[in-house]
Amino acid sequence: MAEKERPGGDAAQPEASTTASPLAPPDPQVLSVHLTVNGEARELQVDVRTTLLDALREHLQLTGSKKGCDHGQCGACTVIAGGRRINSCLSLAVMHEGDDVTTIEGLGQPGKLHPLQAAFVRHDGFQCGYCTPGQICSAAAMLQELRSGMPSHATQDLESAPPFSDEEIRERMSGNLCRCSAYPNIVAAIREVGEASE
Ligand code: FES
Ligand code: FES
Repeated sequence: MAEKERPGGDAAQPEASTTASPLAPPDPQVLSVHLTVNGEARELQVDVRTTLLDALREHLQLTGSKKGCDHGQCGACTVIAGGRRINSCLSLAVMHEGDDVTTIEGLGQPGKLHPLQAAFVRHDGFQCGYCTPGQICSAAAMLQELRSGMPSHATQDLESAPPFSDEEIRERMSGNLCRCSAYPNIVAAIREVGEASE
């Protein structure tokens, strides 16, 4: 098609764009993060948008922590960071500069199982096993919370230490879903380990 002539006679030239396309992705910003993961000092270069879960799985190849919902709803990604259990899919890696992080790989290994891992095996506390790393990390930190006397929504008596009851365990583990519905066996496994350590 012939180009339109301007009144002065020149062919019209397209105007140079001075703003970035709204569809262009923003430039990634990469930062260094220092973590101690399962007792080992690690330095990562991560895009600031990287979640802790993706940093563990994709950068450190620690694939024990699972991505279930990626929205903080299932607990499959639970790890222990700074002594507290967290959903690692909801937390950015750069927020954990200097933190100690424990994943299922740091709790136990084949041949040297954590007591909770052994109890899950004894009590048949899983079927597909997808939720199990998160269940066990969550249970390990939850037992610490119980031992320290931290109350839960199910605690009736706020003057005394909360008991290792099924009700307390169910309430405290309610953020960890199991699509295979192994809940009775999960509770039995956790209670056994809790009672053994009383
Ligand atoms: S993957 Fe994190 S809560 Fe579901
Ligand atoms: S064992 Fe399958 S989701 Fe829990």
